[in-house]
Amino acid sequence: MTSLILAASTQRSIGWALATIVVVGFSVYLLFSFRIGKQELGSEIDTASNRKKHYEDDELETRRLDSHLGWSLVTLAAVSMILPLYWLMEPARQENAAETWVRRFESRGGQEFEGACSSCHGPGGVGGVAAFTLVDSDGGFVAQVDWKAPALTTVLSRYDESEVEFILNYGRPGSPMPAWGLPGGGPLTEQQIHQLVVYLRSIQLDQDEAIAEVASGVETGARNIVMMDAAAAIDADDLDAAVAAWLEDAVDPSSDNYLAYGELLFNNPAAQGANSCARCHTPGFSYGATDADSTDALLAEWPGLSESGLLTGWQPGAGHVGPSLYGVEAHFPTADGQTDFVLSGSEVGVGYGNARSGTGVMPGFGGRVDDDLIDKETGASVNYSQLLTREQVAAIVAYERSLR
Ligand code: HEC
Ligand code: HEC
Repeated sequence: MTSLILAASTQRSIGWALATIVVVGFSVYLLFSFRIGKQELGSEIDTASNRKKHYEDDELETRRLDSHLGWSLVTLAAVSMILPLYWLMEPARQENAAETWVRRFESRGGQEFEGACSSCHGPGGVGGVAAFTLVDSDGGFVAQVDWKAPALTTVLSRYDESEVEFILNYGRPGSPMPAWGLPGGGPLTEQQIHQLVVYLRSIQLDQDEAIAEVASGVETGARNIVMMDAAAAIDADDLDAAVAAWLEDAVDPSSDNYLAYGELLFNNPAAQGANSCARCHTPGFSYGATDADSTDALLAEWPGLSESGLLTGWQPGAGHVGPSLYGVEAHFPTADGQTDFVLSGSEVGVGYGNARSGTGVMPGFGGRVDDDLIDKETGASVNYSQLLTREQVAAIVAYERSLR
């Protein structure tokens, strides 16, 4: 981008230089031609014998010559202005071309998305479900489940574009998310994958929407807790007030409900779990094992789950796509260091905690700045919304460090 701006200003400078040369040259020409014209006044030319009688000097040298010279000047001026004008307009033309190109990619990506992705991720990427057949290590049938496909409207907050392209190319093995790119054996070309990513840029939530989404999931969980705790039925207004009071107390690290608050964030159901941790760190969470009761119900319906060892009980944080968090303190000596990691996420090949190596699959929840993209209005790098505040992540980390 910087090089584009540089190139644009170089072109502008060339344009201005040419325009200046033309204007100065033109003025000099005018100056000289008038003075020379004046000197020539009164000079006589005899008519050569091989020429027929032409116009009288008065006629030729005044009206006719003036009009011819006038017109040639006008056309010369027009022609000589085209060159600087071309250079002056070129940057804008290039900018428009780039923008048209982005819009074209975005709309093609949008069409591909509706064709290939929305059946699971919902129209516009708001989240959905995928029917999925779980199999054991020998390929034998285990269970038929509904697997939550997370909303993709905050995916660029959590992952950079190359990480998203990696997911699109190779899918998530063991989940319904198939490999889409040619490198992973899928049908889409590199360009089509890029078009999908350009489309994803256009559906990302702004900061207020992202905060509201996370809050709505936490509130749903808090509501359940308050209703379970209530001795008798509560009317709607009292319930709202009780939920607000519960939350106000629970966010305080010294509250008895602080770990429960961290757990709500860890299990956040909003947007099909897009902002949760449990979908990757708790076995079966994505296909319905969201608490002890629902896990028992699943195990009763599909005995193959425990026989195959895919799901043996309600084990929050025991690991699924991501590793088990039991004993996570051993990898992160301080809660603060663990909080930093959750805010930034992992990067391929970059060590984290006690020098474990990341794969880029652990998302970051603290927002993301994309230095390769420029915001048209502000001229600054594009900024993707922060999903969890430091305080929220600290509550999650406290909950994680309490898991045994
Ligand atoms: C058959 C259903 C299905 C289809 C079709 C599908 N996905 Fe997915 N996708 C999923 C599921 C389920 C997950 C979550 C996997 C998990 O739980 O780890 C997922 C995960 C993802 C993720 C990672 C999100 C995250 O935060 O972990 C991205 C990005 C993604 N899909 C993009 C796409 C795109 C783009 C398409 C279309 C080309 C697509 N998916 C098509 C089911 C699907
Ligand atoms: C899309 C799947 C996914 C989601 C969602 C996810 N994680 Fe992870 N997490 C991983 C993976 C994978 C790793 C291992 C590091 C790697 O491969 O980059 C990991 C590693 C971690 C670790 C380090 C564990 C260790 O001991 O090495 C912590 C702590 C952690 N995640 C916390 C969280 C928290 C908190 C959330 C929610 C705010 C979360 N994760 C959401 C996939 C996920």
